[in-house]
This record gives sequence, structure tokens and C-alpha cells, in this order.
Amino acid sequence: MAKFLVQKSAPLRGEVTISGSKNAVLPIMAATLLTDEPCVIKDVPALRDVEVMCSLLESLGASAERDTDNSTVCITASGDISHEAPFDLVKMMRASILVLGALILRTGRAVIPLPGGCAIGKRPVELHLKGLKALGVVINEEQLARGVVDASADRLTGNTIYLDFPSVGATEVIIMAASLAEGTTILENAAQEPEIVDLANFLNKMGARIKGAGTDTIKIEGVEKLRGVASHHVIPDRIEAGTFMVGAVMTRGCVLIKNVLPDHLKAVIAKLRECGAEITMTDEGMIVRGDRNPINSTDIKTLPYPGFPTDMQSPFMALLTIASGPSVVIETVFENRFMHVGEFNRMGANIKTDGNCAIIPGGKVLQGAQVVATDLRAGAAVVLTGLVAEGTTEVSQIYHVDRGYENFVSKLRDLGANIMRVEE
Ligand code: EPZ
Repeated sequence: MAKFLVQKSAPLRGEVTISGSKNAVLPIMAATLLTDEPCVIKDVPALRDVEVMCSLLESLGASAERDTDNSTVCITASGDISHEAPFDLVKMMRASILVLGALILRTGRAVIPLPGGCAIGKRPVELHLKGLKALGVVINEEQLARGVVDASADRLTGNTIYLDFPSVGATEVIIMAASLAEGTTILENAAQEPEIVDLANFLNKMGARIKGAGTDTIKIEGVEKLRGVASHHVIPDRIEAGTFMVGAVMTRGCVLIKNVLPDHLKAVIAKLRECGAEITMTDEGMIVRGDRNPINSTDIKTLPYPGFPTDMQSPFMALLTIASGPSVVIETVFENRFMHVGEFNRMGANIKTDGNCAIIPGGKVLQGAQVVATDLRAGAAVVLTGLVAEGTTEVSQIYHVDRGYENFVSKLRDLGANIMRVEE
């Protein structure tokens, strides 16, 4: 199994270009099932999850031509499309559920095994199913009891749907299904993440009529047919950007972050400034400095967008382990997203947790250790602590990191980080 070997590094200096957003490209790729015409998606990151989604679409009968040189994927879901997603692919990526709505519209049925819980939580889909039922989809309850979503519908009819929680995946599945339903759908308490806006923009390029994406109420007027897309550039990955911003501050460096949309990072920018970072926007990108002020502590509470993103919780906690005083982190989005605390404590962080609350004492000089990537963001987080810890930090289970960070090692090395990937 591959590992990262990370040594204490000099302050990160230089520039890094952020890749396309994993969490925007995955639903957009799923949406290509809604037409039999070619869809060209650009700025696609070369990630394991993108490969899995390509394989999933191909297993359903679509063609997915990758041109990794210029980060382009052309997907054409023409001809016969299968309604059954293979378990061996679905178990590799929970985001496979994103094809649910599109598959029902395309074939009249979707059979998708649920891969069960994962490190950060049980990841139920009852909100996805509640929305689809409201549009007229029938769910086979016996199959569901056995962990398989078997959903069918001859045609879908628009409706008003309230989401008990602003679930990102449920919002995406519902707006895809509603885009070809008969009549209008109003989705209330919808997720507002930028990735929802990117998906809605892609669907509208296909001929959909979606308004309000990015707010808590989205209106979808169903249309007869959706067409292919000649070109769609995926938004930059705000979580990758946030991860490098934290790295610049933790190592007391100065980094120019290119291909970033600051509006997508307001909560992270505000919190980093509270910690003493200097962040300025320029025509070339965002300059993040950690070399001018001490690193102060701050408190974090993760919330649905536009609140502080749960995906930035572990990378930000890495910073708080070396901040000048105690910090409190409350995780409200996932029920088990503190797996990285044990890894930070192996390095001397001395973090205590009680339920969804973590107390980080701060003021530590971390020691290198053998640690594990417990999810893809936590894997990046322990690399960040490795950059400032004394000695060597060995990170295993780094396949998690490969899922969400394109060229992570080379991007860090270009900034002066002392990190290498070793194959065991
Ligand atoms: C998306 O997951 C992202 N993944 C996650 O990123 C991200 O952490 C999450 O949104 C929150 O921002 C992709 O976009 C591929 P949710 P998703 O449905 O859609 C509960 C990463 O690191 N819930 O908003 O699965 C759920 O259990 C990944 O890139 C229900 O209870 O997130 C969780 O506690 C990790 N019932 C909370 O809502 C449901 O029917 C948020 O889930 C659906 C969700």
C-alpha cells in the first residue's frame, strides 16, 4: 500500500493552481444520463472518484472519453442504458447514488445497492427518496430493507418538496429528476452549496429551467427534453483551496492560490483571519500569508453552506493544534467526523472530544508519528500537521487522499514541502 512520508518543512512559498471541484463534477457527470447527446465537461480533476464515476457511467452503457492532458471528459449516454448500478463500483464511492434521479428518468427504473456507512457516518438517503416519491417515484420497500434502492416511475410530476435537512446529495438528485418532470417543482430548505449552483448551470445549458440554485428555495420547471452540452467548465474546488490556505498559514508561509473563487470561501477566510492570517485578493488569485502574525486560536462550528464547511473541519483542526491557545470545534453535519482526532493525538495534540465537540488545547510542538488517513479530508489534514511536526510523519491509507486531491504531493513539493509518496 502507498504511504506519504512527510518531514518538517520550511514555510510554504510560491503559487498553487486549484483543480476543478470533485463535488461539482460528480453530480454533473451523473446529469449527462439525462440526454443521449454528447456532453463535454472541462477542468475535470484527475481523481479516483472521477474515474469511478466514469466507470459507473460506462457500466450503465454510456461512453466516457477522458483527455486528462486538458482535463476534459466527453460523456455520451446514447443507446440502451441499463437501470442497474453494479455493486463493485457503488461500494467504492457513495456518490454513486447521484445517478439515481437521472437513471429513473432515462430508463423508468434505477437499482442501486447502498454501500452502507463509512468513516464519517451512516450516510442515509431517506431525503433523496422522500423527494423522488413526491415526484411520483415508487420505491420497493422490501429491497430497501435489504440495502438496495429499487426505484421506478413511468413519468414524474412536479411537486413542492421540503427537505428536513439541506442535504447536498438529495438536492442534486431531486433537481435532476424534476428537470424532466411534468410541471413545476419547488424544493424548499434546499442545500445552497456552490456545487449545486454549478450543477444547475450545467442543467440549464442542457435546456432545463432551474431558478434559485444557491438559495434555500429552488424552482424547477419541467421540460420535455434535455440536450447535450458543448462545453462546461467545472468550478474550482473550494475545499482543496481551503486546504492549501491552511497549509500556508500553519507553516508561516506566503502562497498565491490561483483558480479560486473567494466568494465560495467566505467562512474559511473569516476564520483564518481570526487566526491571524493575512488574505488579500489580487488579479492573479488569493495571497495567503501566515508569516506576519502569531497563530491565534478560534472556535469552529460546521454548518451547511454558507456556514463553515464540514469538509474543512479536519484541515482547520490541524491549524488549531498549533494555535497559541485553546479552541473548540463542533461538528454538526456528520455524526462521526472526529476520526482524525486520534491521529492528531498520536502527534501530541492532546485533543479531547465529547460527542460532536472537540477541545483543542493548542500551543503544541507536534512530533512526527505513524498515522492513518481516516477519510479524504482527514488524510490531507495529517499531511498538514506532518509539515510542522518534528521528525517524520508516515501517513498510510492514502488512497483516501487520492480520491479528492489531484497531484497533492507535487503541488505541495512545488511549494517547498518535504513530502514524498512511497509504494510499499
Ligand atoms: C456531500 O455529501 C459531499 N460529497 C461531502 O463531501 C460533504 O461533506 C457533504 O455534501 C456536506 O457538505 C459530494 O458532494 C460527493 P449530505 P452528501 O447529504 O451529499 C445527512 C468530501 O469530503 N443526511 O449533505 O452525502 C447525512 O447523514 C465529501 O468531499 C440524512 O440524514 O452530504 C449527513 O449527516 C465527504 N439523510 C448530512 O445529512 C439524507 O437523506 C449531510 O449529508 C441525506 C443526508
